[in-house]
Amino acid sequence: MENIMLISESGITFFNIAMWDALVRFQSLAYILAALLFILALAGLSKQKTAQRGNTLGIIGMVLALVATIVVAVAQSEEVAISTIVIILVAIAIGACIGVWKALHVKMTGMPELVAMLHSFVGAAAVLVGFNSFFMEPGAAGYENAFHMGEVGLAVFIGAVTLTGSIVAYLKLSAKMSGRPLTLPGRNFINLAMVVASIVLIVWFINTRGVEDGMLPLCLLTVVSLVLGAHLVLAIGGGDMPVVVSMLNSYSGWAAAMAGFTLGNDLLIITGALVGSSGAYLSYIMCQGMNRSFASVILGGFGGDSSAPASGGSNQQMGDYTEITPEEVAEQLKNAKKVVVAPGYGMAVAQAQYPVADLTRKLIDRGIDVKFAIHPVAGRMPGHMNVLLAEAKVPYDNVFEMDEVNDDFADVDVALVVGANDTVNPAAETEPDSPIAGMPVMHVWEAGTVVVSKRSMGNAGYAGVQNPLFFNENTEMLLGDAKDSVEAIIAAL
Ligand code: TAP
Repeated sequence: MENIMLISESGITFFNIAMWDALVRFQSLAYILAALLFILALAGLSKQKTAQRGNTLGIIGMVLALVATIVVAVAQSEEVAISTIVIILVAIAIGACIGVWKALHVKMTGMPELVAMLHSFVGAAAVLVGFNSFFMEPGAAGYENAFHMGEVGLAVFIGAVTLTGSIVAYLKLSAKMSGRPLTLPGRNFINLAMVVASIVLIVWFINTRGVEDGMLPLCLLTVVSLVLGAHLVLAIGGGDMPVVVSMLNSYSGWAAAMAGFTLGNDLLIITGALVGSSGAYLSYIMCQGMNRSFASVILGGFGGDSSAPASGGSNQQMGDYTEITPEEVAEQLKNAKKVVVAPGYGMAVAQAQYPVADLTRKLIDRGIDVKFAIHPVAGRMPGHMNVLLAEAKVPYDNVFEMDEVNDDFADVDVALVVGANDTVNPAAETEPDSPIAGMPVMHVWEAGTVVVSKRSMGNAGYAGVQNPLFFNENTEMLLGDAKDSVEAIIAAL
């Protein structure tokens, strides 16, 4: 029987060639299938109707990838198979316990923080993989090795930027740190200087020979990249965090792809590239939603002029406002032909999506045309409102993107704003000095009547600015918790 011999520090391992061949084929096949499933998963996730199927395909792909990786890792291991299996299972069990515990306890409104935290783990993993790869195979003469060292340098660079960037995003999103942008003088120059320093350090690192020689540039590179990641996100204003969330998602994908290069794992490269490019595309869509330039986001140099606080905010009155009771709202809705619901972060806080869905069903049963208008950055994470509405089983056909309905508000009898504020603030269009100036907003004020559900007149939205909409003649304020208010409307109907 033909064998191949692998020599390592811990001894010599013999593999039967046929078995080795089968193993390599099994891994390649499993990886190709998993990659296809991931692509199909992304395609499925692009539409609400197919999102669940997309999720299932993604899970199957991930299980397949994990099984193939574990089988091959066990077969190739220089240790006794059982001890490798135990180590892997213990690692999986620890991760799974933390993951399940977190998933069970996280509130829907806390998802962005959780996602930011998870991105930081990907960054940390890329840095650790990079260091490990360097210790296993430090610098030596030859092109192939220079390529390997370049991969390690890039993995550590992108990983470290993602790590600290995500930690700062987590702290800002969870209000453990001020959402105000840190505007150091010449901050764009500082960023540029750190990028140039990182390139120089990577080149130095590639040209080193041996662990001792390469340790200094690699450690310096890590420190510079960690500072760069933190500074990039610190410089971004709280009001611009939506783009940061999706941008870090993209960074984490590229960090995983670089880790894939250093590990020689094709599937990790494909998966990382899928996450990296879809995250970049999502950032692009978010930028359009916020009317920001993509290039300035990538450089982390925007939002500096925004004075947007992340919470609290201005309670400055802009005139008189009119209050309305749930009974009066019910009467208006009964008499309406066209109703548009504009949900926002407050709907998520109040968990009002279920009564809102119930109300919509009742209105549709009465022959009223009801649509949902979804702003791209409503809530606190991409697709936040879509997830909530899908959870409450609102028919997908009634849910529209902002652009699809924004020109039709003049024909709408009642616009029902449920816990939205910044996304329906006309100041974005009329006040050039406003922190949200230039952000496209939903033209709810063009409807016959606007009913706004929020708890009090004292709190502003995420950007911390007062909303002149609330003081318009055709606006009526339904003050109170959104869930209670909508339930009261249903009762009155
Ligand atoms: P916001 O501007 O955040 O306004 C939320 C509104 O909900 C406030 O008027 C608040 O007023 C009200 N509210 C809070 N709890 C409520 C409750 N229990 N019942 C009724 N109303 C309640 O919401 P928005 O219009 O969705 O805008 C989103 C903002 O978040 C944008 O500025 C966006 O840039 C930012 N952001 C978005 C993301 C993503 S990716 N979507 C990520 C980070 C930040 P009261 O407190 O008076 O009730």
